[in-house]
Amino acid sequence: MSGSKIITVQRHIIEQERDHPEATGELTGLLWDLTIAAKIISREVNRAGLADILGLTGQENIHGEEVKKLDEYANDVIIKSMDHGGHLCVMASEENEDIIPIPDQYPKGKYMLMFDPLDGSSNIDANVSVGTIFSIYRRKTTAGNGTLEDCLRKGVEQVAAGYIVYGSSTMLVYTAGHGSHGFTLDPGIGEFLLSHKNIQIPSRGKIYSINEGNTNTWDEGTRKYINDLKKVTPETGQKPYSLRYIGSLVADFHRTLLYGGIFLYPADYKDPNKPKSKLRLLYEAAPLAFIVEQAGGKASTGDTAIMEIKAEQLHQKTPLIIGSKEDVEKYEGYFKNK
Ligand code: AHG
Ligand code: MN
Ligand code: MN
Ligand code: MN
Repeated sequence: MSGSKIITVQRHIIEQERDHPEATGELTGLLWDLTIAAKIISREVNRAGLADILGLTGQENIHGEEVKKLDEYANDVIIKSMDHGGHLCVMASEENEDIIPIPDQYPKGKYMLMFDPLDGSSNIDANVSVGTIFSIYRRKTTAGNGTLEDCLRKGVEQVAAGYIVYGSSTMLVYTAGHGSHGFTLDPGIGEFLLSHKNIQIPSRGKIYSINEGNTNTWDEGTRKYINDLKKVTPETGQKPYSLRYIGSLVADFHRTLLYGGIFLYPADYKDPNKPKSKLRLLYEAAPLAFIVEQAGGKASTGDTAIMEIKAEQLHQKTPLIIGSKEDVEKYEGYFKNK
């Protein structure tokens, strides 16, 4: 039996780098630092029930959401793990209103990191899977501290992106533009080992994932699309799709990526003239769009590719329709003659 080739995430990144000279050692160093932060957060998430870091801090973040201690903890771990490596010129986080400068005493690098330190945080107390999402760009400015301009980019400019899902096991899924690859943390040796090489999302799935509690806020096209998903159409042999909704984007997306299907967080049209979205473009939608496109899937707002949207604000929100190519294109078809 051929020895199982144990491929750690650092070996995978270095081998990718060798095949793609445009990636520099800096990106390897940056991703390596990120895996350290992921292991520290994973340890705390997995023992959150024991420590007193559960429960509300009673504070609110800039989105008016109650911040759970683990959000803050994860945010601090990432900032402190990433600010001194010399790979970054600026960071931006869901939990920080403004960009996060690199402290003066540390060297500035050519990349920027934008992240959601803990996604799905409302689920922490119920021991439901949560995650971290990250997105990496090359700076546009040439020296010194990175700027807000450096951060307001289009998803197609991402150099790398990924997420860690803290679930029954801790998994890191990342892309550097050469496929999306999954690594499972072996806690015994503290290493992320390659477990899902070159993930390919099924071209069509049988699961849809949406918060049906928001049905009355959807636009007509979404309502029609979801109703049609539930119909049995003997002539096309379509059976009704199953609904799976965890309420943690990373967990709902990870299942969609591996099993196929579609995740939808459409805008809220309670005020038809002012549609309101919930998910954030720079550190939720764009990184997951990069991952899914590299896996052969699609991510759109319903009529615009997520990766083509240029961010105008740091915490800009967007509708997110993401998953199997055929499912997302079918949804888009409900808006074509709009
Ligand atoms: P976060 O915990 O980072 O603020 O993200 C929460 C998001 C996302 O994880 C999930 O898909 C969505 O909130 C769930 O929203 P609803 O509870 O409105 O369905
Ligand atoms: Mn939040
Ligand atoms: Mn989130
Ligand atoms: Mn979050």
